[in-house]
Amino acid sequence: MRKKIVAGNWKMNTTPQEGVILVSKIMELLSTKKSDSVEKIIAPPFTHLSLLNDKLKGSEIQLSAQNCHYENSGAYTGEVSPTILKSIGVEYVILGHSERRNYFNETNALLKNKVDKAIENELQIIFCVGEILNERNNNSHFEVVEKQMKESLFHLSSSQIKNIVIAYEPVWAIGTGVTATSAQAQEMHSFIRKTIAKKYGNTSAEEISILYGGSCNPKNAKELFACPDVDGGLIGGASLNADDFVQIINSF
Ligand code: PGA
Repeated sequence: MRKKIVAGNWKMNTTPQEGVILVSKIMELLSTKKSDSVEKIIAPPFTHLSLLNDKLKGSEIQLSAQNCHYENSGAYTGEVSPTILKSIGVEYVILGHSERRNYFNETNALLKNKVDKAIENELQIIFCVGEILNERNNNSHFEVVEKQMKESLFHLSSSQIKNIVIAYEPVWAIGTGVTATSAQAQEMHSFIRKTIAKKYGNTSAEEISILYGGSCNPKNAKELFACPDVDGGLIGGASLNADDFVQIINSF
């Protein structure tokens, strides 16, 4: 059975001290209602990772970075490598987020290199795919998502692909308050799973978790998570509020 996952992407928000307070609230709320069947992940800024790793020891919440470099070390001022992340207890890294693609010009080819290095360092990857509004309007959204997967992931072996969680995040839904309908989400998630099945076979495709992201909140999470191919969510804005984040976790 594939994993159900709810991951909070804090983006460039909170100071480390605010991060500790937010995590404490999340842990407190989680302790009152057991949700063992859902894997919980938070992705704070780099500066918080060590501190939060100490705080989260023994808890059920796992840590993710929001990005990493495509080399293990070297003269890359301002960057953080997957080796450094792994050494401080980070388990996951988000790669291919639309904000990285858009503001930092990250291409499918560059992301392929990041994917390889993250896997070499035994990090699990939350790999984001998704179309912009124009691409949906001109009906090329399936093609765009397929290309993102093929060019950054499909060189992996069938044992390596198991380290990937896909997050479908339609760019027009991120931070906009406009959510994909559950029918739109299910349609794309099912397409993504079929695309994986064509390359790696049905068994692999059935094991890979596919998360939905884009204005997911406590009100719409239940309906989205009820879709057969939606295995959880990558939550931005709502993950900065402990009550909302835990309500989303409890929406399964
Ligand atoms: P949002 O962001 O939930 O604020 O729309 C989702 C994401 O970017 O991962």
